[in-house]
Amino acid sequence: MTAIPTRSTPAAPMPDTDTADVGATIALFRKCDRYTTAREYQAAGLYPYFRAIRECEDTVVTIDGESKVMMGSNNYLGLTHHPAVLDAAAAALRKYGSGCTGSRLLNGTLDLHAQLEAELAEFLGKPSCLVFSTGYQANLGLLSGLVGRGETVFLDKLNHASLVDGARLSFGDVVRYNHGDLDALERKLAQHERRKGALIVVDGVFSMEGDICDLPGLVQLAQRYGAALAVDDAHSIGVLGRNGAGTAEHFGLIAETDLIVGTFSKSLASIGGFIAGEESVLHYLKHHCRPLIFTAALPAANTAGVLAALKVLRGEPQRRAALWANTRRLQEGLRGLGYDIGPTETPIVPVLIGAIDDTFLFWRRLFDAGVFTNPVVPPAVAPTQCRLRASLMATHTAEQIDGALETFAAIGRELGVLS
Ligand SMILES: Cc1ncc(COP(=O)(O)O)c(C=O)c1O
Repeated sequence: MTAIPTRSTPAAPMPDTDTADVGATIALFRKCDRYTTAREYQAAGLYPYFRAIRECEDTVVTIDGESKVMMGSNNYLGLTHHPAVLDAAAAALRKYGSGCTGSRLLNGTLDLHAQLEAELAEFLGKPSCLVFSTGYQANLGLLSGLVGRGETVFLDKLNHASLVDGARLSFGDVVRYNHGDLDALERKLAQHERRKGALIVVDGVFSMEGDICDLPGLVQLAQRYGAALAVDDAHSIGVLGRNGAGTAEHFGLIAETDLIVGTFSKSLASIGGFIAGEESVLHYLKHHCRPLIFTAALPAANTAGVLAALKVLRGEPQRRAALWANTRRLQEGLRGLGYDIGPTETPIVPVLIGAIDDTFLFWRRLFDAGVFTNPVVPPAVAPTQCRLRASLMATHTAEQIDGALETFAAIGRELGVLS
């Protein structure tokens, strides 16, 4: 997640609410007029968000008429332009039309959804699977559908926002522990009444740091305290594990991981999400999940595209090998230059810059030099820990990565980030 900085900005002069003609202005909207931070960055030419891509060819995008090497995408396996994926999506679009125009529960379930659920369940080694319209909704649905009054969800503080929001939407108690601190988690689990339901939910790969969760430690704690364990594999499917099946496969703990949640918006090159687990749990969720029931189903073109992407993911392991070779090349190159890239172990490579303004300036210089990265600023990270998040694709070439490293080196020296 990236976000607009939250530093306080001088408020525009506003009429005193007690004395002004309140009919002249709508109270609810006053904060919108006072919110100037993003406009200041826009005026300074440092605003990095909502940049319109005009053309997109795998690792290269065109923005404002200029080519950029895309190093800010979650398209880990480079499948968004794979001919088999495009053909399958186009054929489904023609056969089923442009949208499902209804909920999975009612008129929106297609045979393609059932096929995808069966294939994903088999791929992940779980008995059952349920497809959602986004990964965000899958996480909202998991937590709000499963964790009820008197039950508790335990969250790592660096979990993705969709898990935080899902916990908020649930009627259960929410307990957070410091990132990766399993001693703290154990202390909190020990205070929880065992007869009441508990769920530990964690990102398999943390989306801003790129580190992998300690799944063996979490499995032990879940078993010791009778909690269920769910892993968000958004950044792990297609990346981790011998077959690309994610974090549980990576650690050989598929049976011990009760629930696997994921998205189609990264390695699977589309949009949508899923929850996989025991049939009885999925059956319950199907009938208690508002983010599944009260929204329209994933369109046919996306569902068919994901089925095709899954086939390529499984049939072309060389893509995963190329992704890891590219990951090592960028990580070693950046570390060799003297950059702090933190504890990353995956294709997510955060480059620590420092303050917000320095980060936006660095981002702009990279962007102008043809390298697209994503700035990460508060509230996603502490104000002094702002970073540029680069991410690799299987289809990046060695020349593209080396070119990006040269650019990072030159700008880093110029801006004093490197000595
Ligand atoms: C860890 C994690 N979980 C869930 C999501 C939500 O996925 P989607 O894009 O499918 O809504 C994301 C996307 O950024 C993510 O990084």
